[in-house]
Amino acid sequence: MIEVALIGAGRIGKIHAGNLAQHPGARLKCVVDVNAAAAGELASRHGARAATPAEVFADDAIRAIVIASSTDTHADLITQAARAGKAIFCEKPVDLDLARARQCERTVEGAGVTCLIGFQRRYDPTFAALKQRLTEGEIGEPEVLIITSRDPGPPPIDYIKRSGGIFKDMLIHDFDVCRWILDDEVVSVHASGSCLVDPAIAAAADLDTTAVTLRTRKGRLCQINTSRRAAYGYDQRFEVLGSRGMLQAGNHRPSEVVAYSSAAVCTDLPEHFFLERYQRAYAMEMQHFLDALIRGTPVRTTIADGVKALQLADAATRSCETGQAVAL
Ligand SMILES: NC(=O)c1ccc[n+]([C@@H]2O[C@H](COP(=O)([O-])OP(=O)(O)OC[C@H]3O[C@@H](n4cnc5c(N)ncnc54)[C@H](O)[C@@H]3O)[C@@H](O)[C@H]2O)c1
Repeated sequence: MIEVALIGAGRIGKIHAGNLAQHPGARLKCVVDVNAAAAGELASRHGARAATPAEVFADDAIRAIVIASSTDTHADLITQAARAGKAIFCEKPVDLDLARARQCERTVEGAGVTCLIGFQRRYDPTFAALKQRLTEGEIGEPEVLIITSRDPGPPPIDYIKRSGGIFKDMLIHDFDVCRWILDDEVVSVHASGSCLVDPAIAAAADLDTTAVTLRTRKGRLCQINTSRRAAYGYDQRFEVLGSRGMLQAGNHRPSEVVAYSSAAVCTDLPEHFFLERYQRAYAMEMQHFLDALIRGTPVRTTIADGVKALQLADAATRSCETGQAVAL
């Protein structure tokens, strides 16, 4: 039985706690949060106890730490967990600062511990099926990837101010998808952005609408379009053009009921937001992490992937500021 401590009892921490509890080979032992009430409430829901970071790092029985606290805590917690010899599951991004993220990567590698970064789209059954069929050669060689990534609405402005900007907070997932789907490294990034949704986001020196073009070593191209607003809900789609065809993977709907009338043919809107759309992906991601620890196999989304995605986010931020493509 793998004993696990969870740090961060917020939105995503609750999801990870629930998924951990489903795994027959793992037990949630402790929950840590600066908000003692949140830690206590989540711990009691899963038969765990609230604890401090020092307690969980010093507890030899705890083999793995799940880090789901605010972004600005990730680098310190990864470093402490690695030094304590714990396996790590950490939410994206590794950090907002590339040099610090690289230092974390070196610490993790030096300690030789497992470290999974939470790029859950790679575990989503729909996107994973697209990737599988692409790998099997169904559409030949991939040439162009188009990623549409739109939130139903912007997060609170306090969140925006601490997020590190749209490229590090939101597009970090899309940058990881580009590397994963095209199976190639990016050599240049050209990004453009606007503030069309909320002037408060502009006042916080951030963007809410972006268009990014990436070019890979093999000359493959990826276009990412994102918005912090989509009136019809969460919109997450990929389209891969290959030498012999095209693969598309798209939104999920709460039901597949279609209503026909003399006025229109109507379906449900897409699932509302990430907690619904990626429910299965989060479950499979946690299962993959725990199975990897039990079997001693490598994890699919490593800290190196986290650092590479952050490097692309950094390059996109600079490209947007200068209006020039950034070479990597
Ligand atoms: N992979 C995804 O799809 C996904 C989705 C949402 C959030 N995230 C990431 O997960 C992290 C948390 O996001 P959230 O939406 O759950 O935020 P949240 O604000 O709901 O929860 C964060 C929790 O961390 C706690 N916390 C803050 N500082 C702490 C510290 N020093 N020690 C212990 N606990 C601390 C807060 O009290 C809060 O309970 C962020 O890094 C975010 O980028 C990833």
